[in-house]
Amino acid sequence: MRSIKDKRVLITGGAGFIGSHLADALLSAETAKVVVVDNFFLGDMANLCEAQTAGERFAVYRDDARDLGTMKAIIRKEKIEVVYNLATITLRHSFFNPYGAYRVNVDIAETLLHLLEDGAYQTLIHSSSSEAYGTALYSPMDENHSMNPTTPYAAGKAAADHMIRSFYNVLKLDLSIIRPFNNYGPRQTMEAALAAIIPLTALRIQNGEKPVIEGDGNQTRDFIYVGDTARAFILAYEKDIRGELVNLGSGIEHKISDIIGCVCDYMGYMGEIERAPERAADVRRLCASSEKAKKLLGFEPEIGFEEGIRRTLDWYIQLGLK
Ligand SMILES: NC(=O)c1ccc[n+]([C@@H]2O[C@H](COP(=O)([O-])OP(=O)(O)OC[C@H]3O[C@@H](n4cnc5c(N)ncnc54)[C@H](O)[C@@H]3O)[C@@H](O)[C@H]2O)c1
Repeated sequence: MRSIKDKRVLITGGAGFIGSHLADALLSAETAKVVVVDNFFLGDMANLCEAQTAGERFAVYRDDARDLGTMKAIIRKEKIEVVYNLATITLRHSFFNPYGAYRVNVDIAETLLHLLEDGAYQTLIHSSSSEAYGTALYSPMDENHSMNPTTPYAAGKAAADHMIRSFYNVLKLDLSIIRPFNNYGPRQTMEAALAAIIPLTALRIQNGEKPVIEGDGNQTRDFIYVGDTARAFILAYEKDIRGELVNLGSGIEHKISDIIGCVCDYMGYMGEIERAPERAADVRRLCASSEKAKKLLGFEPEIGFEEGIRRTLDWYIQLGLK
């Protein structure tokens, strides 16, 4: 087992939701330096308040991770050893900019592979998404489940995964892929057009609007708390799972209507729920098999849904009160 301690680590998309939690976790794990590259499409400096208390052990570059020259210069200047690739443009962006939502995933992966192959850094840990699978053909979904992406975002994630795996097959580079299912927790964007179901419902209630169920509400998702995800990303480096792709989920399937009900209950909302048409290309069912994560990473989620939703909604509530 190798240690992340004393390593120099870069996170693309590190000012976003999962990336900022990963930055905090890496700094707590005594890395030598954590460098964030984020173009602030959705990132927020407020997410990095805790990380910034690490002083010279932490740096932020407001740059585009697609750009080969820029990434080469940052990796060289900061003597980066490990790169976590988390930068993306969220799924909902697919609906008004399908090309951009697809392309960003592919372009950043290509840039990072170039630099890994050139020896600019040693290890790439790439974040895929359960959306790359599309609707479950069987459940729970293991890593051999076929990829049937339904949105341009998901197609971009799947394309990047294929590219990265093919590079491993040919070049045996030190790289691995983590495939998280739905994450939730503090700092997930509340920007209405791009927000996921938990922050969106919290935002609507706080704004005095009705929560909305798109479609019949029977779509299912597997939710994992963001702190657990950050821990698993560190284990992916330490357990040296090069060449592998590993799911990250809880193995528990929640209906979207139940999730919305849960947010309403916690926030004391007793009003009506609005109905909207089904979202285009929506995935019906997602539920992870966590066997491989258990076996290769020794990983199991520590934060159950009840505790996770409490921490998440308390954070959104105090944000709304500021
Ligand atoms: N949130 C989830 O439920 C979830 C589930 C499965 C997989 N994932 C994956 O986890 C990773 C992180 O997701 P997240 O939820 O934190 O998303 P996020 O949108 O909060 O963070 C992504 C960050 O990438 C940045 N970014 C976008 N384009 C960039 C570019 N060209 N150069 C540099 N930075 C750029 C954004 O500004 C943002 O800060 C993504 O790869 C995503 O696909 C997320």
